[in-house]
Amino acid sequence: MKKISTILICAAAMANGLAANSTFTVDASHPAGKVSPMLYGLMTEEINHSYDGGLYAELIQNRAFLDNPTKPVHWSVVNGENSAATIALDSANVFNDKLTTSLRLTVTKADGKNSAGLANDGYWGIPVQPKTTYRAAMLARTDIDFSGPVTVSIVSDDGKKVYATEKFSGLTTAWKKFEVTLKTGKVAPTTKAHFVITLDQPGTIWLGMVSLFPPTWNDQPNGFRKDLMQMLVDLNPKFLRFPGGNYLEGDTVETRFDWKKTLGPIEERHGHPCPWGYRSTDGLGLLEFLKWCEDMKAEPLLAVYAGYNLKGAHINPGADLEPFVQEALEEIEYVIGDTNTKWGGQRAKDGHPAPFDLHYVEIGNEDWFDKSLSYDARFTQIHDAIKAKYPQLKTISSVGNEQPAKLRVHSRKPDMIDEHYYRSVNDFIHTSPDYATKYDRNGPEIFVGEWAAYETPFVPWDKRSQKEPPTPNLKAAIGDSVFMAAMERNSDLIKMQCYAPLLVNVNPGGRQWRPDMIGYDAISAYGSPSYYAFQMFSRNVGDEILATASAETAVQGCATRDAKTGEIFLKLVNPATNSVSLKIEITGVTALASKGSAITLAGNLGDSNSLTQPGKIIPVTKTLRGVKSGFTYELPPNSIVVLKLKSRS
Ligand code: AHR
Repeated sequence: MKKISTILICAAAMANGLAANSTFTVDASHPAGKVSPMLYGLMTEEINHSYDGGLYAELIQNRAFLDNPTKPVHWSVVNGENSAATIALDSANVFNDKLTTSLRLTVTKADGKNSAGLANDGYWGIPVQPKTTYRAAMLARTDIDFSGPVTVSIVSDDGKKVYATEKFSGLTTAWKKFEVTLKTGKVAPTTKAHFVITLDQPGTIWLGMVSLFPPTWNDQPNGFRKDLMQMLVDLNPKFLRFPGGNYLEGDTVETRFDWKKTLGPIEERHGHPCPWGYRSTDGLGLLEFLKWCEDMKAEPLLAVYAGYNLKGAHINPGADLEPFVQEALEEIEYVIGDTNTKWGGQRAKDGHPAPFDLHYVEIGNEDWFDKSLSYDARFTQIHDAIKAKYPQLKTISSVGNEQPAKLRVHSRKPDMIDEHYYRSVNDFIHTSPDYATKYDRNGPEIFVGEWAAYETPFVPWDKRSQKEPPTPNLKAAIGDSVFMAAMERNSDLIKMQCYAPLLVNVNPGGRQWRPDMIGYDAISAYGSPSYYAFQMFSRNVGDEILATASAETAVQGCATRDAKTGEIFLKLVNPATNSVSLKIEITGVTALASKGSAITLAGNLGDSNSLTQPGKIIPVTKTLRGVKSGFTYELPPNSIVVLKLKSRS
């Protein structure tokens, strides 16, 4: 395999991009390798309220009253001068053994004009949109003295506006599920609202679970936020790595992602503490992950629990690990098994008879943290079991080449290894991993399963980064793009890559990590410059790698070609604070159309997007003229540029 490299000639002047002979050469005479068709994907886990308070469209926070064992957090009493109520957790009156508490509402004083009840403040507000239908569902029962009705409403925080309201009755002493539709009128969008349940007469009711959904992506019940899904689809991802990340491992074995507990109706899901400091409802469970892939036309990249937990404990390989090996096999059976298998049949019962398109299974996550050095044996045991039953699947080791040899897998050759790179912008610009010279092309394929450039002085997990904006600025996107160009140049080896983390709820207290690619609150979302840089890369890529070389410039880049159409995608990153007149030389093409297009993301290094300025820095597409085998292109300062050139070889 020919080595694919960009030659960087270092000179002080060039660091500023000032050299007069800045040149970027593309050799189109023959492909230097194949671009992996799976190169660009997404990584996800429950972090930063990615699902609860994020993509998973549930609007009620603490819907099953399990978030705090001593008080009904996010719920409060609603009453007035002439009405009175109390609320309390009640573990003696529960809907089932999964919902291990209920909420008792006791209204002691109320009438038709003076109602009393309780309210939920949502995930930093309930989003109110005009002319929108919301679906509310409640598990409820009463005592013999109360006959209803119950009123449910979406109300402004100042109590002055009722955006939507509906009543239901029919409560009995037995638990029942009630479903109500709430429709808003012509109202101004806001998040300054809450969800209210009131009675207009004294009485006691118990609530087992309260749920409220806005319209979802493809109208799926228990589904996803439409705006966020659209943004994810727009990234053109080929795979989704889930469920983690640390979320897979959990702090302890009991709090790992226990996939069986995430199946079935939501009232059958107890939820669990996630390692990022809050409780997950498990409303977005294994089947929802898989449907999410399907909705994006992306493949699942399933990570299975491999016996290591974040607090440092591990399960010994051998007999102790065996139940977890079986659990992993059963999980795979749920994903791809025939409907006449136990878990394939369960998938069909859960509403999805067709198997999913699974090819990659990652064994654990970041197992280099296991200082007992047990990963080699744990990997081997799980790998062998998977290969015996599903020889077609590719296994991925969670310990990459960037880790010391003693932590890596040696007993087997993993099909792939997962490397993680959270690096400063400067690190990426000056020392991106040297895939061209240091990696064995005959070794395992590489999956860069987590990476991001950070532009602040703080590593992503440093608490001090909490004071920084949740999403990165253009400077970080430039670091990202230099690294993405290196991965694309070497995508004969790097088969898949995904930025992490993907999602962040930007409300105070919403995040545990920065930088994150997409920010949102309850009603709006925006892409960071890193989001748009990734989109420019993932949507403009051919299937052949073309060798590139640069001289007398700080500009870095890569080139690919679509073998069918001949279109060349030239990606250029100018990290300098001044523009660069770049001589672009394309050899090995017989014809180049003089007209192409240029997509540019450029601005001040500190420029960023936010909820209030979602489009401050976004890619701009323009027609490119004067293309020929040698032409000069003016790269703006701090820019990421994709040139699309029509060619014949
Ligand atoms: O992406 C955030 C965290 O970084 C992941 O959960 C973990 O795998 C890594 O350390």
